[in-house]
Amino acid sequence: MKETFPLFPHQASTLAGRVDGLYFYLIAVSVFFTLLIAFSILYFAIKYRRRSESELPRGVEGSLKLEIAWSVIPLLIALSFFFWGASIFFAINRPPDDAIEISVVGKQWMWKFQHSDGQREINELHVPIGRPVRLTMASEDVIHSFFVPAFRIKRDVLPGRVATMWFEATRKGRYHLFCAEYCGTKHSGMIGWLEVMDPVDFQAWLAGGTGSESLASAGAKLFAQHACNTCHRPDSLARGPNLEGLFGTKVTLQDGRTVVADETYIRESIVMPNTKVVAGFQPIMPTFQGLISEEGLLQLVAYVKSLSKTAPVQPPVRSDLGAVNALTPGPPSQRERVQPSAVKE
Ligand code: CUA
Repeated sequence: MKETFPLFPHQASTLAGRVDGLYFYLIAVSVFFTLLIAFSILYFAIKYRRRSESELPRGVEGSLKLEIAWSVIPLLIALSFFFWGASIFFAINRPPDDAIEISVVGKQWMWKFQHSDGQREINELHVPIGRPVRLTMASEDVIHSFFVPAFRIKRDVLPGRVATMWFEATRKGRYHLFCAEYCGTKHSGMIGWLEVMDPVDFQAWLAGGTGSESLASAGAKLFAQHACNTCHRPDSLARGPNLEGLFGTKVTLQDGRTVVADETYIRESIVMPNTKVVAGFQPIMPTFQGLISEEGLLQLVAYVKSLSKTAPVQPPVRSDLGAVNALTPGPPSQRERVQPSAVKE
């Protein structure tokens, strides 16, 4: 029955069953009260119908017991929605630490993926079964929304921000991947497939790709190419904060605020460096808006992240400095000439 007349997509991720459970509970509660109210209306309309022209209804004083009951019971039911929903919300928003990293860039009208070891794909994403996968997502142009119905996951991908999402596939197969936010004339064509494979097949598939470099080492290359390391360095010549061990820590800004150095913050510090200047540094970093592609930004983010792990990927600057500030470097002088054209956009 389920196969011939599928009302629901397959449950193909660890989250799918939990999301469906809550969904069915909401439906069950709605159906129960719809029927309860409908039948009560019918029953009371018949039982207390007016039997003669002269009949007057009896005055009703109210009942404390009844009023408490119809306040407390709905409150408890509503709270059950809240706690159940919150627990799933937390599960969806807390990727496990051992998740595989994949970067996703949405653009009119395609999804571009890059695995952490560099393998690229378009409108098709291969993942292993039984391993958590974390997606770091950005948009090159407008708002898109990454949606895999079989996994019960959907997340908007906004320009200028980095969104994250995770899943763990539990069932092999090919599943639809959609853009779920109207993004222009070919929005309906912004679709693809997510293929869940055995870990062994996945490794073979990864190995069969064109040997490109990993996200983090591509980021390290960009870092050196744009001469970021001339300012972001651990020694006394540093005009920008040292980036080692930065990711995920709290950063104090010039104006006294603190922010967490997450993906969005690091991306913002590259394209709009003067929005959040780290305490103790001058706002001298030029913007890299338009100079580095969205994919390049995600590679840089992956690189900065890799500096927080025990084995950094090709660090351009050696450091054993534990104290951490954040991004907001000074400019190499040749960068300043490029700036005006870059800012226009
Ligand atoms: Cu992208 Cu709709």
